This record gives sequence, C-alpha cells and structure tokens, in this order.
Amino acid sequence: MSTFPITLSLLLFIFNSQKLFSAATRILCRPDQRDALLEFKNEFEIGKPSPFCTIAHPKTLSWVNNSDCCYWDGITCDSKSGEVIKLDLSCSSVRGRFHSDSKLLKVQSLRILDLSHNNFSGQIPFSIQKLSHLTSLNVSRNSFSRCIPSSIGDIPNLTFLDLSRNKFVSKIPSSLGIFFGEIPFSFGNLSNLISLNLFDNNFEGKLPSSLGNLSYLKFLDLSVNNIVGEIPSSLGNLSHLSFFYLHFNNFSGNIPSSLGNISHLTSLTLSFNYFVGEIPSSLGNLSYLILSHNSFVGEIPPSFGSLSHLAFLDVESNNLSGSFPRELLNLTKLSILFLSNNRFSGNLPSSFNNTLDFSNTSPSSKLRELYIDNNNFIGPIPITIFQSQPKVPPSWS
Ligand SMILES: *[C@@H]1O[C@H](CO)[C@@H](O)[C@H](O)[C@H]1NC(C)=O
Ligand SMILES: *[C@@H]1O[C@H](CO)[C@@H](O)[C@H](O)[C@H]1NC(C)=O
Ligand SMILES: *[C@@H]1O[C@H](CO)[C@@H](O)[C@H](O)[C@H]1NC(C)=O
Ligand SMILES: *[C@@H]1O[C@H](CO)[C@@H](O)[C@H](O)[C@H]1NC(C)=O
Ligand SMILES: *[C@@H]1O[C@H](CO)[C@@H](O)[C@H](O)[C@H]1NC(C)=O
Ligand SMILES: *[C@@H]1O[C@H](CO)[C@@H](O)[C@H](O)[C@H]1NC(C)=O
Ligand SMILES: *[C@@H]1O[C@H](CO)[C@@H](O)[C@H](O)[C@H]1NC(C)=O
Ligand SMILES: *[C@@H]1O[C@H](CO)[C@@H](O)[C@H](O)[C@H]1NC(C)=O
Ligand SMILES: *[C@@H]1O[C@H](CO)[C@@H](O)[C@H](O)[C@H]1NC(C)=O
Ligand SMILES: *[C@@H]1O[C@H](CO)[C@@H](O)[C@H](O)[C@H]1NC(C)=O
Ligand SMILES: *[C@@H]1O[C@H](CO)[C@@H](O)[C@H](O)[C@H]1NC(C)=O
Ligand SMILES: *[C@@H]1O[C@H](CO)[C@@H](O)[C@H](O)[C@H]1NC(C)=O
Repeated sequence: MSTFPITLSLLLFIFNSQKLFSAATRILCRPDQRDALLEFKNEFEIGKPSPFCTIAHPKTLSWVNNSDCCYWDGITCDSKSGEVIKLDLSCSSVRGRFHSDSKLLKVQSLRILDLSHNNFSGQIPFSIQKLSHLTSLNVSRNSFSRCIPSSIGDIPNLTFLDLSRNKFVSKIPSSLGIFFGEIPFSFGNLSNLISLNLFDNNFEGKLPSSLGNLSYLKFLDLSVNNIVGEIPSSLGNLSHLSFFYLHFNNFSGNIPSSLGNISHLTSLTLSFNYFVGEIPSSLGNLSYLILSHNSFVGEIPPSFGSLSHLAFLDVESNNLSGSFPRELLNLTKLSILFLSNNRFSGNLPSSFNNTLDFSNTSPSSKLRELYIDNNNFIGPIPITIFQSQPKVPPSWS
C-alpha cells in the first residue's frame, strides 16, 4: 500500500490545527458590520438621558474601531458566524433624525432591534424591510413621526412590534398632494406576530380588517390614538388574543359579536370612544372589562353571571338601564364594580349584607369596591360609596 493516505492525514491535521489556532485569536466581528455600526453611531449624537429610564447609559461610547464589535455595549453576535444578531440601544440617550439610507440597514443579520427610550426622530426608513430577519422591533418612546412604512409588513418573522409612545400619524399629504399612510393594511401579512403595540401615537384612520389575519396575536394595544370607524368583525378571528386595548380613540358603532369567539380574551378596554348599541352577551373569558364613557344601552347581559374569572368590571357613564345586575354578585373573583352614571333603577339587593365584605382585602375575595352613584336606584343604600380611583389596565407580562 502506498503511504499516500498517511501523508494526507498528516497534512489535514496540520491544516486543521492552524485553523483552530487562528480561530482562537481572530476577531469575531465582521469588518463590514463593524464599519456600518460605526457609521450608524456617527449619524447621531448623545443627547439628554430619557427621564423614563432607571439607568440611562450611552452605550455607543464603547463603540470604537480598535476593538471587536461583538464586545461593544448593546451588541450581541452569533457565536459561530460572528454576525451581529441583536442591537439593544434602549436608554442610550441617542438623539437625531433617522435617515432613509441609515447604515444600520446594512446590518442585515439583525434579529432583535431595540431602540426604545431614546430621542430618535424622523421616519422609520421604508427600506427597513432589508432587515428581513428581524423577529423583534422596538422603537417605543422616541420622537418618530410621520407614517409607519408599509414595508414592515414584509418582514416575515416579526413576532414583537412595539411602536408605542411616538408621534406616528396615519395620514400626511405627500408632495403630490395625495394622502397616504394609516395603520398599514400590510400588517395583515405579519403572520408570526404575537405582540403589536401602537399605544399613544396620533393614528387617525380606520383599523385595517387585515389585522384579523394575525392568528398568533396575543397582545394588541391601540389605545390613546384617534382611530375612527368600527372594530372590523374580522378581529373575531384572533383566537389567541388575550389583551385588547382600544380605550381613548374615536371608535364608533357596535361591538362586533364576533369578539365573543375570542376564547382567550382576558382584558378588554373600550372606554372613552363612541360605541353604541347593546353589550354583546358573549364576550369570552374576561377578567378585566372596561366599557366606560361610551353610549351603550340596554342591560348588562345576564350571561355575564357566568364570567367566572371576572375581577374588574367598569360600565360607568353609559346609558345602561335595568335593575341592579344581581347575577354579578355570584362571581367569586369580582372585586371592583363601577355602575355609576347610568340609568339603572330599582332596589339594591338586600343580599349585600352577605356578599360585600369590605374588611377583607385579599384580591381573591369578594367585591371590595362598588360605585353606583348617579343612577335611579331607590330605597335604602346599604353600602358605602367609595371615591373614584385611577383605572390602569394590567400590563402584559
Ligand atoms: C476601522 O479601522 C480599519 C483599519 O483598522 C479601517 O479599514 C476602517 O475603515 C475603520 N472603520 C471606520 C468606520 O473608520
Ligand atoms: C428630542 O430632540 C429634539 C431635537 O432633535 C429636541 O427638540 C427635543 O427636546 C428632544 N426631546 C427630548 C425628550 O429630549
Ligand atoms: C424565518 O424563520 C424560519 C424558521 O426559523 C427560518 O427558516 C427562516 O429562514 C426565517 N426567515 C427569515 C427571512 O429570516
Ligand atoms: C419595548 O421597550 C420598552 C422599554 O424598554 C419595554 O417596556 C417594552 O416591553 C418593549 N416591548 C417589547 C414588545 O418587548
Ligand atoms: C403584504 O400585503 C400587501 C397588502 O396587504 C400585499 O399586496 C403583499 O403582496 C403582501 N406581501 C407579502 C410578502 O405577502
Ligand atoms: C375625535 O373626537 C374628538 C372629540 O369628539 C374630535 O375633536 C376629533 O376631531 C376626532 N378625531 C378624528 C380623527 O375624528
Ligand atoms: C387578510 O384579511 C383580509 C380581510 O379580512 C383579506 O382580504 C386579506 O386577503 C387577508 N390577507 C392578508 C395577507 O392581508
Ligand atoms: C375572519 O373573519 C371574517 C369576518 O368575521 C370571516 O368572514 C372570515 O371567514 C374569517 N376568516 C377566517 C380564516 O376565519
Ligand atoms: C364564531 O366562529 C364560528 C366558527 O369558527 C363561526 O361559525 C361563527 O360565525 C363565529 N361567530 C361570530 C359571531 O363571528
Ligand atoms: C380563562 O382565563 C383564566 C385567567 O383569567 C385562565 O386561567 C383560563 O385558562 C382561561 N380559560 C380559557 C378557556 O381560556
Ligand atoms: C347565584 O348562585 C346561586 C347558587 O349557585 C343560584 O341559586 C342563584 O340563582 C344565583 N343568582 C343569580 C342572580 O344568578
Ligand atoms: C343587613 O344588615 C343590617 C345591619 O347590620 C340589618 O339591619 C339588616 O336586617 C340586614 N339585612 C339583611 C337582608 O340581612
């Protein structure tokens, strides 16, 4: 036999050990990504720290050209390829206008991009979809304005999208005099989305019916905008939705009965809108329901007596009528009930003596607070009327 295979093995061994040796000392960061990040850094300046950060630290100060970018503050690289996969610039006091050709768009391996709690302004670039591997995009609490680019809808694996607390608007006149914008219809393409947060912006258009296609969505916060029109009935298809916040908008019309199909819905806030009609008898498995400050009529549906997880119900300031909703007193989790400013009438239930136990402060106990002022109840008032308290929806863990 020839010695060829032995020689080849030896050569391969030497070759492999050289590779191992060089792998131990080489810099992980890819030079093109290092340069793109350095240029991105120079597009902005360090401003004042956000007052909403417990620790605000300008992470980009550690971004210098003579070190491995994988060890810079806020950067995470893939341990094998060295590609930058995560950029966390939250609370970094970054300030300035985002440009449509920002060098950040060259870091196309990014999966997680967190720019929250800075002072980025301008527009999210239309070419954001070049970051096609993104699973999470968070620009919460900045000064972004103008439209949301519809191209976000083309990022196929996006799972968490947080645009809250900016100044996004739905419609601005383009140079051609055409209006464009709105919450993009293309968001209906984001079939992996679990969380969509548009809280506290300036959206004005109608809600696109395509959102009903987001079949994995668990959290949807549209509150504190100027969104108009009806809730599209297609949203009844969001079978995984648990948290649905619509308060402080200009919604109108009836609550679509299809929402009753969302069996996982636990928190729903519709307060401070222009909703009319009756409250649908079927509204899922709610524990937290706020319908206050609308124009709902009719009675509280008797079926609410089977919402066994209901802990907080607020129907204050509507045109509801009928007698006191006695069936609610059977709900062992219900602790706070607002009925004020409606047209309820008749006697208050005498069973209050057995039901109301204000001395017990355990959250799992029975009714602790009841508000019934400004109704047409008659007869003796067997309970204390408490002062109103701020109502804050539960956050999503
Ligand atoms: C970083 O340094 C390298 C040489 O060490 C240079 O080629 C590159 O242009 C520098 N990058 C920037 C953004 O200055
Ligand atoms: C954000 O930056 C702009 C200038 O770009 C400035 O006018 C504004 O006061 C800053 N906002 C905050 C909260 O620092
Ligand atoms: C989306 O995720 C799937 C599954 O993890 C992966 O195979 C695919 O390459 C991803 N697509 C993009 C554009 O990142
Ligand atoms: C976005 O960032 C803010 C502030 O850092 C944080 O509170 C929020 O949970 C983040 N959103 C998502 C979807 O992770
Ligand atoms: C995204 O949605 C838009 C409109 O809703 C549609 O025209 C487009 O083809 C969709 N893109 C993908 C990649 O599905
Ligand atoms: C929303 O309603 C308020 C109060 O009625 C009104 O001033 C505002 O113009 C409405 N906004 C839109 C976009 O319709
Ligand atoms: C989403 O839903 C709408 C109507 O609810 C439908 O017309 C559209 O084709 C669906 N698909 C996408 C990707 O938006
Ligand atoms: C989504 O909802 C609409 C309107 O409620 C309905 O017509 C449609 O069939 C539903 N689509 C799916 C996939 O369930
Ligand atoms: C609830 O879903 C079922 C089947 O998925 C459908 O037949 C029904 O029309 C839906 N109800 C409403 C009110 O949309
Ligand atoms: C109903 O909601 C409670 C929490 O509020 C949850 O533990 C339970 O699993 C939910 N049931 C269904 C069928 O979704
Ligand atoms: C309350 O529950 C009791 C026992 O489960 C039942 O007999 C009664 O009818 C219920 N009351 C109302 C108003 O639903
Ligand atoms: C409720 O309690 C008051 C005072 O403790 C008592 O006078 C009244 O008879 C009780 N009513 C019922 C229905 O038990």
